Amino acid sequence: MQKTVVARFGDYEIRRCDREDIPSVIQVNMETLPEHYSDYFYYEILSEFPETFLIAELNGVLVGYIMCRIEYGFSQLKRLGLARKGHVVSVAVEGEHRGKGIGTALILASREEMLKKTATECYLEVRVSNAQAISLYQKLGFKITGRLEAYYRDGEGALVMTAQIGK
Ligand code: ACO
Ligand code: ZN
Repeated sequence: MQKTVVARFGDYEIRRCDREDIPSVIQVNMETLPEHYSDYFYYEILSEFPETFLIAELNGVLVGYIMCRIEYGFSQLKRLGLARKGHVVSVAVEGEHRGKGIGTALILASREEMLKKTATECYLEVRVSNAQAISLYQKLGFKITGRLEAYYRDGEGALVMTAQIGK
């Protein structure tokens, strides 16, 4: 099958996820995050939102992923009104490949795809203790737009962070 590459930097390639990549995505998720999903969930998101499910590869080995949904609902940025929103469900990069810009590249590339899908904002939830991720999101223009108490199974709260897409 033809691979759909959306960005390249150094030896890393950002491309659309294929069904065959899902086992490696699940493996990276297992190694990097406490939030896991059923296998079905990954395939379902891929089939519904293939444009915004991206992976980072180094010499054919998957080292990171981002998976997103496009939703329609209350805006996190406007006080009143509805918006099409890109929801970053999960993003992760393997430990030894962090700090090289892959996380940034995955988020920026998925935001481009969200814009093509006419989303006007992009949001996500992140653990209040995840300083690394929070500072990366802030650098990419995300603002704290909400707080969810005891959002995670272990009782930790989440920040909701939102960035405007396009104008
Ligand atoms: N390791 C980690 N971070 C480093 C390192 C290093 N060795 N060296 C530098 N950093 C800093 C960098 O300074 C960089 O910011 P800057 O270069 O602009 O100063 C920042 O950390 C990371 O930026 P990137 O390289 O673009 O991002 P990275 O590829 O490291 O991925 C991510 C960031 C996805 C948050 C990664 O740390 C990760 O996978 N963490 C574990 C999983 C996780 O927490 N995911 C997010 C959960 S929330 C959600 O999914 C919606
Ligand atoms: Zn979420």
